Amino acid sequence: MLRIVKSLAAIGLALTTLTGIAAAAEVKLGFVVKQPEEPWFQDEWKFAEQAGKEKGFTVVKIGAEDGEKALAAIDNLGAQGAGGLIICTPDVKLGPALVARAAANNLKLMTVDDQLIDGAGKPLADVPHMGISATKIGEQVGQAIIDEAKKRGWDLKTVGAIRVSYDQLPTAKDRVEGAISKLTAGGFPKEMIFDAPQAKTDTEAALNAATTVFNAHSDVKHWIAFGLNDEAALGAVRASESVGIKPEDVIAVGIGGADSAINEFKKAQATGFFATVIISPKRHGYETALNLYDWVANGKEPEKLTQTAGTLAKRDDYPAVRKSLGLQ
Ligand code: GLA
Repeated sequence: MLRIVKSLAAIGLALTTLTGIAAAAEVKLGFVVKQPEEPWFQDEWKFAEQAGKEKGFTVVKIGAEDGEKALAAIDNLGAQGAGGLIICTPDVKLGPALVARAAANNLKLMTVDDQLIDGAGKPLADVPHMGISATKIGEQVGQAIIDEAKKRGWDLKTVGAIRVSYDQLPTAKDRVEGAISKLTAGGFPKEMIFDAPQAKTDTEAALNAATTVFNAHSDVKHWIAFGLNDEAALGAVRASESVGIKPEDVIAVGIGGADSAINEFKKAQATGFFATVIISPKRHGYETALNLYDWVANGKEPEKLTQTAGTLAKRDDYPAVRKSLGLQ
């Protein structure tokens, strides 16, 4: 009798192991991003796929530029039998709707980059999130700008500042406010900071927003610019060029450090794009994917909030900085 029980137990164990292996092999995770053409998001996807290859899960990449597409992406993942998804949503106010839709599809949900908020604007702290330490990184941007403006000997009272803004997104607001805090602490006059609200978070929208400000203040010679990301800073730089402002009269600093910034640094002639704060698509892509996998496959819940750091890089030192960060 004991032998039979033992063999049954052994068979049971073998079956459980087999099921375990089959389940692990089948894990499918969604990675949904708001702006699939942006190099930052391409990099996140690349690193998520790398994690998938290493651990043996599949990453389903979906671009969702608006709320309808984001909700449809969740249904689609549910229908494919995915175990969960990571999302950088096109609209953080969709928070409760996304949470409900993920639950209805039996999907575990994590967010990356842009944290979901409720109707009152409060972060949905229960949804595991990885984002950048926005205020601190904004401060790095502001400090880099003020240091360079002083180095160029500019009279701060006569310099114009373009705040490319997307204030409905908390991380965007925190980044520009962080920059402004360092600018004003360094003696930059508040009244010379001009808001350039962008309709979308891409270069073209930033270009349009910044052009309006340049045209309204054509008497100003020296300009600084900052915003949510490299695309925002680059949009301001393209706008400055289109209205005939010289590169040496512009100090724009971005956030990101992906191809948008690198291609700009590689140009034969320096542009007004002075620096970027490099953030980590590897942590945001690879690590979130691994965390979600661990949650789906092994029941290990991810940290509720992870905030990643950034490192300043300029045209002349970006290869060395990238190397020191382990980037190619
Ligand atoms: C937001 C921005 C992206 C990138 C990420 C980083 O989503 O739109 O460009 O800066 O944050 O977390």
